Amino acid sequence: MKVDVLVIGAGAAGLMCAIAAGQRGRRVLVVDHANKVGKKILMSGGGRCNFTNLGVTPANYLSANPHFAKSALARYTPADFIALVEKHRIAYHEKELGQLFCDDSSKQIVRMLLDECAAAGVRIETSCAVARVRKTDEGFSVTTVHGEVHAESLVVASGGLSIPSMGASGLGYDLARQFGHAVLPIRAGLVPLTLSGKHQEHYQDLAGVALPLVEARVGKREFRAGMLFTHRGISGPAILQISSYWQPGHDLRIDLLPAHPLLSQDAGAWLNEQRAARPAAELKTVLADLLPKRLAQRLCELWFESRPMRQYREAELHEIGKQLHDWPITASGTEGYRTAEVTLGGVDTDGLSSSTMQSKLVPGLYFIGEVVDVTGWLGGYNFQWAWASGYAAGEVV
Ligand code: FDA
Repeated sequence: MKVDVLVIGAGAAGLMCAIAAGQRGRRVLVVDHANKVGKKILMSGGGRCNFTNLGVTPANYLSANPHFAKSALARYTPADFIALVEKHRIAYHEKELGQLFCDDSSKQIVRMLLDECAAAGVRIETSCAVARVRKTDEGFSVTTVHGEVHAESLVVASGGLSIPSMGASGLGYDLARQFGHAVLPIRAGLVPLTLSGKHQEHYQDLAGVALPLVEARVGKREFRAGMLFTHRGISGPAILQISSYWQPGHDLRIDLLPAHPLLSQDAGAWLNEQRAARPAAELKTVLADLLPKRLAQRLCELWFESRPMRQYREAELHEIGKQLHDWPITASGTEGYRTAEVTLGGVDTDGLSSSTMQSKLVPGLYFIGEVVDVTGWLGGYNFQWAWASGYAAGEVV
């Protein structure tokens, strides 16, 4: 079969690219080895797809070249995607921090993309694995289980490695290497952190205990959001966010009480007030006003013995307060690609045009979406990158 544009991967980026190219009159085929399109869109945002973020800026992305994402993000903005969502009459809402979700279901986003593909004459083949890709004089020749496809332009939109059970594969990285592109080291991002040894023993039975607001810090990077203890370690939005900046050996600190409504100053000052106000109360009881009861109790068992407040010196309570604002938790690793929302690293942006996503080495070859070394924060940023990079390529392929 002969087409103008072959897109490998019917995920967020691939479908957006196909729509933009199809609308320009290009004959587009999208192939995907999974049995249905957009599986990650379907499972995203707890089934409601956090499809973009109103506050997207290039600073919300990790990449070896922090400038790379600027051009594409500026040319296809959250407002552009919102216009598409509204055109399809999909009801949505802002949950928090600019995060936009469907009111009903992420199925509506996949339906919208498929309807747009159909209107633009895009052909999609699922359960279509790619066996081999060759450069030819006219473009590319791609061997799939459904036969040989000849295309002028080849767009690699096969995503990263996260959630292998959803069809993730390393094909995009292999193709990049095959055509001489550098692939920067990849690792799981937006992923729960694990604890091991005594650290795990200390906290594993707190699984399910949640803190509505903590500040997780690695170096100069910090995120304020919720945190959750799991059987294997810690999770929740603050931990997922910081996980993209953390690597084994890095110092992870958690302020367990940032902006707590009961604290006008720091926790140490508040504890000293409590010593005066309720001298007979035990520390663990007092701490349970600030923290989940089971966590307060555990911290008292592990760090500070729980005694009646009157028995503490002022300096001791200040020291306890300091520890609550700067908890040095030792993570041993991450839960890996099995549960990660994204893959950090990937196709080196040095080899790509930032305005079109085209390879600087092989004309007609494009890389878009998560396979590229551009990874967003939690909160709709990754889909916005998929839409924007897909659109950038779709305008020129
Ligand atoms: P994507 O992974 O979407 O698509 C790649 C496609 O390529 C897949 O359809 C796959 O089957 C196909 N493919 C792979 N290998 C192939 C091969 N060898 N041959 C043929 N086809 C192949 N982001 C966000 O902004 N908001 C959110 O709410 C969420 N929520 C979320 C939840 C969960 C559980 C996960 C795992 C991830 C998210 N994300 C997210 C991240 C978001 O899903 C992700 O960044 C985008 O889907 C990336 O889009 P791509 O199109 O690049 O890859």
